[in-house]
Amino acid sequence: MVRRSSSFNTDRIEHLYCDPHEPEAWLFLHYGDLVDGTGLREILTRVGPNEVYNLGAQSHVKVSFDQPVYTVQTDALGTINLLEAIRDTGLPVRFYQASSSEMYGKVVEKPQSEKTPFYPRSPYACAKVYSFWQTVNYRESYGMFACNGILFNHESPRRGETFVTRKITRAATRIKEGLQNKLYLGNLDSMRDWGFAGDYVEAMWLMLQQEKPDDYVVATGETHSVQEFLGEVFEYLDLDWKQYVEVDPRYFRPAEVDFLLGNPSKAKRILKWEPKVTFKALAQMMTESDWKLARREKILAAHAAE
Ligand code: GDD
Repeated sequence: MVRRSSSFNTDRIEHLYCDPHEPEAWLFLHYGDLVDGTGLREILTRVGPNEVYNLGAQSHVKVSFDQPVYTVQTDALGTINLLEAIRDTGLPVRFYQASSSEMYGKVVEKPQSEKTPFYPRSPYACAKVYSFWQTVNYRESYGMFACNGILFNHESPRRGETFVTRKITRAATRIKEGLQNKLYLGNLDSMRDWGFAGDYVEAMWLMLQQEKPDDYVVATGETHSVQEFLGEVFEYLDLDWKQYVEVDPRYFRPAEVDFLLGNPSKAKRILKWEPKVTFKALAQMMTESDWKLARREKILAAHAAE
């Protein structure tokens, strides 16, 4: 299901998409919106899915301070709309809820596991805590096969460009190619447990293949600062980040989440899941991909100037 937009918003699934008229087509998109419960019921009835993954959200933590009501409408009420639609249709659907390490916020324990209490620090995180408990509630009240994946930050070359890792790889490679001079960032000291999105999607799928529904932390068990990520990327490009990066308080958050470090031992034990891509390999993979983009951009700019 995708949200309707007057401009194309499917470029990140372009590699999966194939014209539905082609005999080998296997991915079919339907317009829908988490705030529209009637539409959700209609799609569920028409498609009759076995598994539903709720990855829909206003997912930017900083934006959630600027748009708290919209964030709650999609990230909290959107989840209850979807759970209710599943319950109403009576379909034997397995449900996955994209819960977030942001729920640990001002952490009360290090590392964070499924047993660590939540302390959300943004409208986004508060909405995610609501959805976490509704997912548990539908499991316990109605016997629904509903799971929470508490995913720590997961990145890839397809990451949106306003999230810090991609913002860094995009800017650093453009700087390398002479297309940009500076990179403005916010808090360089925050620590995150960064993993590869491809590995994490595998864990999501594994959760819905188990005999019993449950909640799992998905993380690498390693934490690094924003500054360390900067170091990896700029060093790979043979550049010194200190010459190009400036701190702009505009990117500070009213309340910051300083330290996230997940304990994925339950996922490893029960799902037999292992993260495969290291922090260094992730930084390099994203840098390589954006470097290609920057080189292409440079060629296009040169052609346009001719
Ligand atoms: N976005 C952004 N932009 N973040 C910055 C910047 C900047 O210019 N400068 C420093 N940071 C810091 C943020 O303050 C934060 O501490 C850290 O970099 C990571 O920020 P994001 O990449 O925006 O991710 P996030 O940790 O806030 O949230 C992401 O991960 C969550 C899982 O823990 C999002 O994907 C959430 O949707 C997800 O739930």
